[in-house]
Amino acid sequence: MKKILVINGPNLNFLGIREPDIYGKSTYADLVDSINKAAVSKGLEVEIYQSNHEGCIVDKIQEAYNHFDGIIINPAAYTHTSVAILDALKAVGLPTVEVHLSDINSREEFRKFSYISLYAAKTICGKGFEGYTEALDFFL
Ligand code: DQA
Repeated sequence: MKKILVINGPNLNFLGIREPDIYGKSTYADLVDSINKAAVSKGLEVEIYQSNHEGCIVDKIQEAYNHFDGIIINPAAYTHTSVAILDALKAVGLPTVEVHLSDINSREEFRKFSYISLYAAKTICGKGFEGYTEALDFFL
């Protein structure tokens, strides 16, 4: 069974509370539940990790080396700033899908650039929780 690591970046633990007009009213626990259910139905094993800290996300990506078959990452705000997360993904070399709940291309200018897109095989944005389900399909 393929093992996929799902990483969620800063403030995603505040889903349901943070800017519900943009990110919806469902909570982070709801997101975890929805990813777990989708993974079971697709026959994939997932580990879901969330951190507000860039270095912890880098550590987690490095730990995936030789332990996972792929990565799904919503780097949240680090999408637009983090060369360190980009470099970690490149170093580990696992197939990676980038997910954003909102459509980063139709928001502020600064959200249009993603360091992570320079490595990710696919970027899915603006599809809410469904984006993670679609990202899982990439690994089938
Ligand atoms: C986000 C989009 C980012 O621009 C933002 O900083 C986030 C969430 C999304 O899922 O839509 O925190 O990655």
